Amino acid sequence: TDRYSVIGRPINHTKSPLIHGLFAEVTDQDLTYGAIEGSLDGFEDQVLCFRDEGGRGMNITAPFKLRAYELANERSERATLAKASNALKFEHGKIYAENFDGIGLLRDIEHNLQVPLAGRNVLVLGAGGAVRGAVLPFLAAGPARLVIANRDLTKARALAAEVNDDRLHVCGYDALVGQDFDLVINATSASLTGELPPVATAVFGHALLAYELAYGKGLTPFLRLAREAGVMRLADGVGMLVEQAAEAFEWWRGVRPETRPVIDRLTVPLE
Ligand code: ATR
Repeated sequence: TDRYSVIGRPINHTKSPLIHGLFAEVTDQDLTYGAIEGSLDGFEDQVLCFRDEGGRGMNITAPFKLRAYELANERSERATLAKASNALKFEHGKIYAENFDGIGLLRDIEHNLQVPLAGRNVLVLGAGGAVRGAVLPFLAAGPARLVIANRDLTKARALAAEVNDDRLHVCGYDALVGQDFDLVINATSASLTGELPPVATAVFGHALLAYELAYGKGLTPFLRLAREAGVMRLADGVGMLVEQAAEAFEWWRGVRPETRPVIDRLTVPLE
């Protein structure tokens, strides 16, 4: 039996063992998947210890994604741009780092919610780790424009400078006045504290979809604002969570589980 685990702090609310357990069941994979409460001064030792005891891979959640990235010997391009890793694989005596958050978000939007990004005007709020991981997959999906708005403009500019793509624009929230978008994605951590990013209702224009990365929080202030602005489709990050898990599962096991039944099982109505 191969061993996997998620590590984070706090870890008590994690859905990853449930998700990977369901994946293992339906794909007939012989594995166990646990959860480890990370230690702020012993994270690296915990990962190495898990590996040395026969662990094959780990998912990494807050606040350790950057440290996981740094601990690895081999890093994917996505993880490198994100400077953060949410999945590690232990193989051939090496630690491989991946970042599936962005591709998971993209798959949820395009595949599950059926809103292709091609030719669209996309607004992403926030410029933290989640957004850094999403920029490359998003640009690869062919949007007309990808605008990243952040309070701290320096952070957003640093990201744009690393990417160098003329469809990518970064700005502060003030500069959004007078613009509207087809898709608006809240990737700030504001919803975790019940706050609203300082975004004007007008950005929603005739938006097809408003997407909140946080999950299990019901209608967050961002989703409420989107609904008031008339956006027909609202989504939270449960699909992204399951999709990034499926990517990791496939990376580790070579088989891709079906995600729809797991998403349905975890979905809590937004109302
Ligand atoms: P994550 O890894 O989840 O993306 P992070 O790297 O800590 O988290 O980034 C958090 C993001 O949420 C940042 O873009 C932050 O904006 P600043 O860089 O300007 O601080 C954003 N954020 C957090 N609280 C916010 C709020 N109340 N309004 C707007 N943005 C907020």
